[in-house]
Amino acid sequence: MPRHPNPDVLVGYETADDAGVFRIDEERALVQTLDFFTPVVDDPYVYGSIAAANSLSDVYAMGGKPLTALAITCFPEKDVEMSLLGQIMRGGLEKLTEAEVALIGGHTVKDSEIKFGYSITGLVHPKRIVTNAGARPGDALVLTKPLGIGLLTSGVKLRKTSASGAQEAINVMTALNRTASEVMLRHDCHAATDVTGNGLLGHAYEMAVASGVTLRFAADRIPYIPEAYSLAKTRYLPKTIASTWTMIAGSTRFDSHVPDPLRNILLDPQTSGGLLISLNSENLDAFLADIAGRQVEARHIGTVEELRDSHILVEQAIPQSL
Ligand code: CO
Ligand code: CO
Repeated sequence: MPRHPNPDVLVGYETADDAGVFRIDEERALVQTLDFFTPVVDDPYVYGSIAAANSLSDVYAMGGKPLTALAITCFPEKDVEMSLLGQIMRGGLEKLTEAEVALIGGHTVKDSEIKFGYSITGLVHPKRIVTNAGARPGDALVLTKPLGIGLLTSGVKLRKTSASGAQEAINVMTALNRTASEVMLRHDCHAATDVTGNGLLGHAYEMAVASGVTLRFAADRIPYIPEAYSLAKTRYLPKTIASTWTMIAGSTRFDSHVPDPLRNILLDPQTSGGLLISLNSENLDAFLADIAGRQVEARHIGTVEELRDSHILVEQAIPQSL
């Protein structure tokens, strides 16, 4: 596709960012995104809720304030109870309401497979857009949700995940990235992206390439849902773990002390995952103090360095001084 010549397109499709941004005037720009997917859980209400949290996340990752939502629905003509659709919609609507976002319409098409999601529109100040291209050497890297969602949800389909593990995954997926976004905007963040289908390292790789830097992670600081670790030891892994590895292997180096299950967790595809934030390291303590007590599990997991021979470095531990 040719590059769009319109100077008001501040973020377009070219940079594989979380959302597009279009300038209205000197003070305001629209942030727009669309996401929909097949069910990741059995409960229709929870599925709707996850779909809403996930769609909103791309606007939060850009530093935007989401305002309106349009629902996108694919639903079978027969064999599935129509009441299911009502529950999906209700789960989504209540999550949008929690986020103070107005549902203003949508569209439904007949399809053999259920799919659901939203297009979200928000606002951002044109000079305060948080892209994935602004990470600078010296920055601290923070992750705002634990990993392991893909392992746990695919484990549910194979009956390998416990009920409590499944519930933990649901709690993580339905949590909004709103607080994390609001806090990062108060503390000189340079870049952010939400962690979704490509896993932490896949999205970190995109950020590293867009920013022209190396991201260095300490494996022992990575937060994950505990049960994900035992699932990550098995051969029942989400397929995208391997495909993401193929995508980034040429520019990623793992220290030999990082255990294999943890490597899988670092590549595990997330649905409605947390924000990976690159912020001025002088603001790290203030950021962590500000977010503490706000029900967000934010962790300092690495640092940004000048570009080396690979974009991603994963060590078992990195010195505390970093
Ligand atoms: Co995203
Ligand atoms: Co998305």
